Amino acid sequence: MLTTCFNVVGFNWMASPAATELETIVMDWLGDMLKLPNSFLFSGTDGGVLHGSTHESVVCTMASARDQILSRIGEENIGKLVAYGSDQTHSVIQKVSQIVGIPSKNFRAIETTISSSFTLSPETLRLTVCSDMEAGLVPFYLWATVGTTATTAADPLGPLCNVAKDYGMWVHVDAAYAGSACICPEFRQYIDGIEGANSFTLNAQKWFFTALDCCRLWVKNPSALTKSMSTDLEVLRNKASEWSYGVANLRNFLRSHVKMAKRFEGLVRTDERANPTPSDEKCVNEVNCKLLEVINGCGRVYTSHAVVGGMYVLLCAIGASLTEEKHVAMAWKVVQEHVDAILSLTMY
Ligand SMILES: Cc1ncc(COP(=O)(O)O)c(C=O)c1O
Repeated sequence: MLTTCFNVVGFNWMASPAATELETIVMDWLGDMLKLPNSFLFSGTDGGVLHGSTHESVVCTMASARDQILSRIGEENIGKLVAYGSDQTHSVIQKVSQIVGIPSKNFRAIETTISSSFTLSPETLRLTVCSDMEAGLVPFYLWATVGTTATTAADPLGPLCNVAKDYGMWVHVDAAYAGSACICPEFRQYIDGIEGANSFTLNAQKWFFTALDCCRLWVKNPSALTKSMSTDLEVLRNKASEWSYGVANLRNFLRSHVKMAKRFEGLVRTDERANPTPSDEKCVNEVNCKLLEVINGCGRVYTSHAVVGGMYVLLCAIGASLTEEKHVAMAWKVVQEHVDAILSLTMY
């Protein structure tokens, strides 16, 4: 916000030392709030950068991981590189894999199940990696998510990083949406194990009350990144917000959002129609599909959907600074009214 107000042209440190220094401060400021290890901070041994989107950041990290491994095994082996994530991983990884030259058949979307809350299993990861290695392929990149788009599942970072370390893989942690909550000590556990990762992204525009585009990328040992991304352009050769909310208020916002989300969950659980048995799946999917259409058509509440474990589910995301309890109650009322209307018109 400050750099926009001053309209600085911040290509690099020489062009605008203030903008670059401010970026450094802001990265460490949030890094400190998240209790990131020193290896991700400028005040420690490494640091980070502000990008526009997760897509952009991951192009950089995946290209760095690619170049790091290819420098050992030879560029001609690019077709052997394999990236891993879960079937809940955001489609970013597939797009970026293509951009950095990884064949699309070399992305493994490891299946998750409801029994493990749609998180990526370290055991299944290991088995998949071993089977790829037996086939002569080279594992190079693991994508772990804290807060998946469909269900906000948080992959177990510590155990996944341990598996990745055994096979020399780069670990990227995508906390685009839910990572913001980890500034609250009671939610910090979801990024426990982050010290084993190579890079970490969080979108401030999602749940940190910032306008598009603001993705924060922290990188441990950025030399891999700078080696991969550096150019030798002559003009680039040279020697050398605080936001209006405040940390306490930011934490309070996030806590109140989690509280409201829990309240919404509680309301849903009291309605037996919201807890169907697996045998109802087909009818439920049809009703949910219709429900999405009518809710969004009514103009009072906006929702989106996901399909997880074969179930068509509607998403409730509370993350705007103006949302209050009364909006949550109203949203549930709207859902119930539409469910009543749909069910009265159908044979379900
Ligand atoms: C978990 C997760 N990762 C990544 C993304 C993509 O982020 P971006 O649009 O900044 O590339 C999203 C967007 O919804 C997301 O929910």
